[in-house]
Amino acid sequence: MNYRHAFHAGNFADAVKHAALTAVLLYLSRKEAAFAVFDSHAGAGRYDLKGREAKKTGEAAAGVGKLRALKADGALGAWLDLVRGEGEDTYPGSPLIAAKLLRPQDRLIAAEMHPQDAQTLKETLAQFRKARVVEGDGYRMLAANLPPPERRGLVLIDPPFEEDDEFEQMGRAFTNAYRRFATGVYLLWFPLKDVAGAERFMGEVLAAGVTKALRIDFAVEAKEEKLSAAGLLVVNPPFGFFDEMEKNLSVLSPLLGGAAGAAKVSWIVGAE
Ligand SMILES: C[S@@+](CC[C@H](N)C(=O)[O-])C[C@H]1O[C@@H](n2cnc3c(N)ncnc32)[C@H](O)[C@@H]1O
Repeated sequence: MNYRHAFHAGNFADAVKHAALTAVLLYLSRKEAAFAVFDSHAGAGRYDLKGREAKKTGEAAAGVGKLRALKADGALGAWLDLVRGEGEDTYPGSPLIAAKLLRPQDRLIAAEMHPQDAQTLKETLAQFRKARVVEGDGYRMLAANLPPPERRGLVLIDPPFEEDDEFEQMGRAFTNAYRRFATGVYLLWFPLKDVAGAERFMGEVLAAGVTKALRIDFAVEAKEEKLSAAGLLVVNPPFGFFDEMEKNLSVLSPLLGGAAGAAKVSWIVGAE
């Protein structure tokens, strides 16, 4: 396990993923009924943008660094407020964003396998009474905790793609999770290096019986060795999410050095 998110936190892919995460959580908050959030690959929760890792890659500077002055409304504005609230040198990861958006009736379970990042995450989330950290395999955490008694919620699956069979692992984990919790919203992140692998993964998700899902693609102009294209598969997207993310991408893409025409939202099954 070599991957450390500290090298990549706040990059273009995080910006799109975390704006989408915020949009889903704000949507779930519209109803009074409690919801649960499951973050299977949570990372450390909070990242030092002045640290060695962030400086080495420069990804945060080219990502969230370009968005500091952006004024936006809706979920994009809410996410940016949350980021700015952490101060200029710090970036909040997915479990911290989720923890901050929970209401007293909601809860979060965040799994992280790397012992050091899991420890940092425990410290980061210690102040949030309704957030629990599991040190270990996030796919197992999902199997052990779905369906949630609340019957409403979000599952975020955001693996590091260090292993060759990550798409297969994620596909299996999704199928199991969806079988138990078909009404949940799912945010599934993937890199777009292995295009055929991504297509097979879409096929597996559809084969699970999903009736409503969209896909977000985004890419930036980048030097060869860096990740330059990524996607998010969103199963059971909330009503209005498609339009909101289309609008958000049109704002984010030029600021993040988006490749021409490479940011798009498309239905893969069902539509509004
Ligand atoms: C892409 S990062 C997560 C970033 C985080 N979701 C965010 O948006 O801020 C992936 C994380 O998964 C962790 N990891 C790798 N394999 C795992 C597994 N099987 N279960 C849980 N965590 C895992 C890595 O240590 C890494 O911190």
